[in-house]
Amino acid sequence: MKTVLIIGGGLAGCYAAVRLQATCNVTIITKGARADSNSMLAQGGIAASLDPGDSPQAHEADTLKAGVYHNNEPAVAQLVTTGPALLEELIQAGMPFDRQADGQLSFGLEGAHSHHRILHANGDRTGAAITSFVQSLLHHVTWETHTEALSLVQDAAGCRGVVVRHLPDGQPQVKTADAVILATGGLGNLYDFTTNDHTVTGDGIALAARAGVALHDMAFVQFHPTLLALNGRCYGLITEAIRGAGAVLVDENHTPIMAKVPQKDLAPRDVVARHLTAWQAKGHKLFLDISAVADFTEHFPGVTANLDRHHVPFRQDHLIPIQPGAHFMMGGVKADLQAQTSLPRLFAVGEVACNGVHGANRLASNSLLDCLVSAAKAAQAIQALPELAPAHVPAPAAPTPNAGRLPALEALQHRAWAELGVERTKAQLHDFLQWLRQFDYRDIDPASLTPAALTVANLCLCSDLIAEQALVQPSLGAHYLKEAQTA
Ligand code: SIN
Repeated sequence: MKTVLIIGGGLAGCYAAVRLQATCNVTIITKGARADSNSMLAQGGIAASLDPGDSPQAHEADTLKAGVYHNNEPAVAQLVTTGPALLEELIQAGMPFDRQADGQLSFGLEGAHSHHRILHANGDRTGAAITSFVQSLLHHVTWETHTEALSLVQDAAGCRGVVVRHLPDGQPQVKTADAVILATGGLGNLYDFTTNDHTVTGDGIALAARAGVALHDMAFVQFHPTLLALNGRCYGLITEAIRGAGAVLVDENHTPIMAKVPQKDLAPRDVVARHLTAWQAKGHKLFLDISAVADFTEHFPGVTANLDRHHVPFRQDHLIPIQPGAHFMMGGVKADLQAQTSLPRLFAVGEVACNGVHGANRLASNSLLDCLVSAAKAAQAIQALPELAPAHVPAPAAPTPNAGRLPALEALQHRAWAELGVERTKAQLHDFLQWLRQFDYRDIDPASLTPAALTVANLCLCSDLIAEQALVQPSLGAHYLKEAQTA
C-alpha cells in the first residue's frame, strides 16, 4: 500500500485524505489541533452553479473577470465544471447545506458574482460545518497534530517524505512516503491585520521554496475589505455575505463610500479594499451599516457571536467598525491541473497552491470549492503513481542552535502591512527588501531554529518572495502599484 503524507488539516488536506484512505496509508500532519485551519474559519460559503438558472459558464465568466483575466483558464474551467459534482456527492453523503423553507438549497450572493450561487451551512459558519463534516468521513487516517514540517525529503524519484518535529520541543524525525501533499494554507499572519487562523504562517510555501520547488504569482495577496476593527486591532472576518444581504459601507458621517463605483459595495474585493484604504487615509472611520439586513443575528450567528464577544453595540446603531486586512494568497506553490508541483510526488492543494484558478484576485467563495477540486485531482494522480520501495534516509543529525538574527514578528508584520499591503510603491518594496535582508532567514537549517523562530523565518522568506515579484509584476488586481496609476 502506498504511504501518503498530507501536511495540513484544513478542507483541502482532509478531503484529499478522504479520497485516498481506502487505498493508501494516509497520515495528516498539522502544526496545531484538528480545528486549527483557515477552512474552519471560512464564513462566506462555497460557490457552485447548482441553481437551475445558473451555469458553469456564468461562474467561469465571473471568476475570470474578478481575476482580471490573469487566471489559468483550464484551471477555472476545471473548477466550475468539476466542483458541482463533488458538492452533490457531499450532499448525498449528508452534508447539511442551508435550505429554504421548501427544502430547496438556499443560494446567497457575494461580491462580483452575477448569480446567487453561494451555499452556506449553519449561516456564516460554513467553513466549520464543511470541514468538520469532511473530517467525520476520515476513518482510516492517522493524525499527527502539534507536529511541524521542517523540510522535504527528496531522492531521484522526487519527494519521498518530510522531516518533522513534535511541538513544542521534539527532535527532528524523518517520515518517508510515496507522495506528499502540501495543504498548509497561505500566509495571512505575515500582516498586522488578518482574517487567518494563527497557525497560517507561510510554512508550505517556505518548505517548497527551500526545496527548490517552483512558486508562482507571489505578488498576489488578497485583502478582504471588512475585518472587525477595534482600537487599532482586528478581530476576525465580517463576511461579505452581509453586503450580499444589503449592508452598505459608510464612514462616520454615514456617507456611502462605494456609491460611485461600478457594482458599488459588491465590487471585486481588490477594488473595495483600495477604496476603503483611500478613504481611511483621508482620516475617515469605516463602518458596515447593516440597517437594511433582515434578520441579521439569525443569518449571521458567527459574526453576531464575535460582535457580542467584543461588546459592539450593533443592535443599537446598526454599525460594525471595519477595516481591510490580509485574507488569501492567490500565489503560492506552482501546481498543474492535477495539483502536481515541479517536484515529482509533491502535490499542492488549496490555498498553498497556485494553479492559476484565482488569477490576480480570487472571486469570493471560490476557495473552498478549489479545496475540493484540487484535492480530488491530487488524490486521483496519487492513485495512479507506482508504489516505490521505501526511501533510505539517514536520521537527521542533532541540530545545532542557530545564532543568526531574525526580526521580531510584530516588526515584520507591521512593515509588511505598510509596504506589501493594499497599495504598494516600488520605493517601499525596495526599502522593505533592504530592511529584510539584514536578517538570517535564507540558507538556514529549519531544525536549528525554535518553532517560534522558524515561524518568523518562514514569513521572512515569504515576504522576500512577495516583494521580489511585486517589483517586476505589473500592477494588476490585488497587486496594486501606486506609481502605475499616476504615471
Ligand atoms: C467572506 O465571507 O467574505 C469571505 C469568503 C471568501 O473569502 O471566499
